[in-house]
Amino acid sequence: SVARRTPSRRGSMHDVPKELMDTIHELEKLFSVDINKMHVIVNRFVSELEKGLSKEGGSIPMNPTWVIGYPTGDECGTYLALDMGGTNLRVCEVELPEEKGQFEIYQSKYRLPDEIKVGDSDQLWDYMAECVKQFLIANHEGQDLSELPEMPLGFTFSYPCTQNAIDHGILQRWTKGFDIDNVEGRDVVPLFEDALQRKGVPVKIVALINDTTGTLIASAYTDDTTRVGCIFGTGCNAAYMEEAGCIPKLEHMKLDPKLPIAINCEWGAFDNEKLVLPRTTYDAHIDKTSPRPGQQLFEKMVAGLYLGEIFRLVLVDLHNNADVHLFQGQDIFGLKLEFSLDASFLSDIENDPWENLMEVQSIFENKLKISTTEPERKLIRRLAELIGTRAARLSACGVAAICKKKGYTSCHVGADGSVFNKYPHFQERQAQALREIFNWGPEIKNDPIQVVPAEDGSGVGAALIAALTLNRIKQGIH
Ligand code: GLC
Repeated sequence: SVARRTPSRRGSMHDVPKELMDTIHELEKLFSVDINKMHVIVNRFVSELEKGLSKEGGSIPMNPTWVIGYPTGDECGTYLALDMGGTNLRVCEVELPEEKGQFEIYQSKYRLPDEIKVGDSDQLWDYMAECVKQFLIANHEGQDLSELPEMPLGFTFSYPCTQNAIDHGILQRWTKGFDIDNVEGRDVVPLFEDALQRKGVPVKIVALINDTTGTLIASAYTDDTTRVGCIFGTGCNAAYMEEAGCIPKLEHMKLDPKLPIAINCEWGAFDNEKLVLPRTTYDAHIDKTSPRPGQQLFEKMVAGLYLGEIFRLVLVDLHNNADVHLFQGQDIFGLKLEFSLDASFLSDIENDPWENLMEVQSIFENKLKISTTEPERKLIRRLAELIGTRAARLSACGVAAICKKKGYTSCHVGADGSVFNKYPHFQERQAQALREIFNWGPEIKNDPIQVVPAEDGSGVGAALIAALTLNRIKQGIH
């Protein structure tokens, strides 16, 4: 008998009419990042990382964090950690054991209301101080707050800051859609400490931490092959350890050239000069209408905050385009509101098992009140794949650049964030891109550089950094 190949319906495009197929090919061209492009991006990225460390500086800030060296295992005690990311606020009490091992963690999450992100400064600090207060009251039942001993707090504030010491940080600029007056250019530590004091909350901020640095330190604590900490979430960024001797902008401090200092890259600002990234008109639109045009151009192409918006803009454009007429004759008001689709919307589309794309159909019908034809759903699905894949491949370029700059040929990269943890196929697409960049053939069984799920950076990592800071102070080194 003759073996017949049954054509798989999975992803089959044979019934897509020519105009839509042409559009899909256009989108593929726009959103693909081929290996040659990745090489160009990685090389440029390496030189931008260097430039950020130089006295003249470049577009990537490369902020020294004054986190000195990896944890040793001697970090112990009880610490508070406050995590102000882009979406939630989390307060944790972390107990680090005497001997390196299991940590205990108690935590509460609070929503960061949207109005706070664009509200005023006092409102922000008061809200955060109130969350810490409520957390302490709930965790120390029956005790008067004023009788509690002052607790050391690691404050994870994940925005670019200029730090002259670990317990200070001047906000360079808001990112991730935040826009609160009178904070940029100011030291956020006293601003927050004043609010804590006003509310009688007995805590002392011992370290101001970026989420990437926390991730690096927390992952290094449990896995000593960790060399980079990354966040692929609402925002996108990385941190790694640099020797003081390789940081020309710190030359005036006459540090021991071998001293290891964690650098918060703030790589979201890569290519702000618009030289190498394959930007589309949709990316340009997102930038132009954002609170900080011209900034975080890399982040605006890869981070979770923007993926759904890129997708929405493409669909609206294809609806308006007379040659394509996506969702012809329908009122697409459900797609008109800016930032109404988040990355989880794309995740749901990518999770559809391709059986006539029934999931996509019901998502569009229920959430957007738009009915779709099967060919339209194929375009929608392909578009989600393209946007998710572009994010994974561009982010791999950043990881590769740090490893190349440092000469790391084999290591772990600890990663956290909603896109890394929840976006379908993100991890395997990113790993695939790294294989292409480093040209690891199929004979290599285990990828030498692997991006792996991190320990909780903004909780445990913040506590570890608070602990290692206090240890240094005790030893008289700071
Ligand atoms: C943004 C912030 C950066 C943070 C990242 C991930 O890029 O500027 O500080 O690390 O988001 O949260």
